[in-house]
Amino acid sequence: MNEFDKILISQEDIAKRVKELSQQISRDYKDLNPLFVCILKGSVIFTADLLRNIDTPAQIDFMSVSSYGSGTESSGVLNIKKDLSVDIEGKHVIVVEDIIDSGNTLFNLKNLLLSRNPASLKICTLLDKPERRVQDINADYTGFSIPDEFVVGYGLDYNENYRTLPDVRVLSRCVYEK
Ligand code: IMP
Ligand code: MG
Repeated sequence: MNEFDKILISQEDIAKRVKELSQQISRDYKDLNPLFVCILKGSVIFTADLLRNIDTPAQIDFMSVSSYGSGTESSGVLNIKKDLSVDIEGKHVIVVEDIIDSGNTLFNLKNLLLSRNPASLKICTLLDKPERRVQDINADYTGFSIPDEFVVGYGLDYNENYRTLPDVRVLSRCVYEK
């Protein structure tokens, strides 16, 4: 059984794009001391690489939410597993996500964070699957727009596996359609 159909985005292409995003965000947030909110666990590797190249003072916090069970479809209900440890009122917040699929997770998360009165709130996502969107929500910074396929690697999982792969790969349907 072949677990992966193909490598969708190589390690080199990810590194190049992430660096571009860091430079763009550094310019946009110069002297604003932004707070990066890493959404665990999927965006942990992306966030680390992104922040390595941020050259303006910034802060980091973590949040764990889900709208997924163990499968590949969004449930539409936001479950907060770990909340932020800092107050975001008056702060310039950048939510760092691994992927926007249906948009349910981010739509609910954005509303929750906005209710806490940040000075501004923007979304940075590594991957975007626009074909699958059911909510009217888009990222302010996007690494790559990808087709409607289930991908793993560089932080993204299927049932908690494959997060440590260095690149983004398309998972074979035979892995999850049993
Ligand atoms: P949404 O609520 O449908 O936008 O789903 C967002 C979350 O679903 C992401 O943060 C991922 O954890 C997960 N997800 C969606 N598509 C994929 C995928 O292709 N591979 C791995 N995880 C995915
Ligand atoms: Mg996940």
